[in-house]
Amino acid sequence: DGTRLEDLVSVPTREVQMRALSDPEIYQLEMDRVFGRTWLLLGHESEIPASGDFIVRDMGSDSVIVARAKDGAIHVSLNVCPHRGMRISTVDAGNTQIHKCIYHGWAFRPNGEFIGAPVEKECMHGRMMPKEELGLPQARVALYGGIIFATWDIEGPSFDEFLGDAKWYFDTLFERSDNGLEVLGPPQRFIVRANWKAAGEQSAADGYHTLTLHRWLGEVGNYSKSGDGGSADLSPEMYGVEVSSPHGHALRCIDLGRKIKKLTGLDPAELSVEQKLEALPPPGVTREMLPQLMKRLSKEQLEVVVSMPPQVGGIFPNVLFAFVYIPQADGTVLGLTLLHAYVPKGPDQLEFVNWVLAEKDAPAELKEKMLMQSIQLFGTSGMVEQDDSDTWPHMTLAAKGARGRRSTLKYQAVYETGAPKGWPGPGIVNEGFTKDDTQWHWWLYWNELMNART
Ligand code: FES
Repeated sequence: DGTRLEDLVSVPTREVQMRALSDPEIYQLEMDRVFGRTWLLLGHESEIPASGDFIVRDMGSDSVIVARAKDGAIHVSLNVCPHRGMRISTVDAGNTQIHKCIYHGWAFRPNGEFIGAPVEKECMHGRMMPKEELGLPQARVALYGGIIFATWDIEGPSFDEFLGDAKWYFDTLFERSDNGLEVLGPPQRFIVRANWKAAGEQSAADGYHTLTLHRWLGEVGNYSKSGDGGSADLSPEMYGVEVSSPHGHALRCIDLGRKIKKLTGLDPAELSVEQKLEALPPPGVTREMLPQLMKRLSKEQLEVVVSMPPQVGGIFPNVLFAFVYIPQADGTVLGLTLLHAYVPKGPDQLEFVNWVLAEKDAPAELKEKMLMQSIQLFGTSGMVEQDDSDTWPHMTLAAKGARGRRSTLKYQAVYETGAPKGWPGPGIVNEGFTKDDTQWHWWLYWNELMNART
């Protein structure tokens, strides 16, 4: 309709054209320019522990087979048969050393190599292309704390380069223990009739919506103690430090001092780093595991973990992580650790994939408790994200309106407050009440990718 791609995001006024949330042409471009170039979350290696184990996931609009080969390496292969384009694996998960296409029977190893075709001699008469050319296209794979990421951008930035400064903070969550994380059960999945970006940009550390959309957290039952320091008032939770990234990643770090004081009665100003960790261990970490954490993290990272730990945020383009403290009826605190991916399924549909994580070394009873409460709060039947997944479809529908799509999303609360004095971490850091900086940086990177020609 005449709107140029480069005009979808207005940098001077900090506005985004609403049509970006519904337009099919924009969606098609995103599949190449965003999902074809960035590192995408596919799962966790604990989902495929044995040789031959595989899961089928999506990289943007492409189905891929994520499989463990005989040598233990994880491979990500395009789930498209090179013969006539049939989907090779039509199930969600399984174990096999031979992925056989159900159409004519061409077969492939877990590493994507072509094995052979039925009645090859009789059918092909020796005219078949060399076998090395008939394998499945391979994505580049990176493991981070056991989490599987992959990209089609073979020559592009490494996964560490893609994370950039944000890695310093993410390491405090994903690289804090010797044996790493594991997934508790298969991920829950459900369809939301919304554009993936409605969820994606919210995951870039939007704390502001919590005060209104999730207001019940401050009002209902046990969760009425969810506020910072275990009170019903959620507004203190809105203060902290937010970290933005030139690659669209985002973190919300929330003040832990008030929580320690309220929940333990101790004055954090009088406690050492070790004592603060003992008083209130990070979500999902037991006191027995603290030596591992102290060994693996730097002094500066530990300072952040005990004072202003990252609790929610996103990995661009479509991942949310949450490492949150949930008060219990008995006065204790349970830490929950989660990952979500918002997988695009068309301009107005996404698949919400929810992994519940725990440290491998955590006791079985703790894992069970974490799984149950995660399901109650964050899963398919969970209470928190039913709020969000009601909002995103309304935004998507509004972006389809003849007038609505000409409206703009307005990022008003963008201003540099800078890092707190002595803040030890890198990145674009701002302190104070939650605002729009992180989501705005998310859109800036989306805009950069969408307008980059190569
Ligand atoms: Fe797969 Fe023919 S399409 S073997």
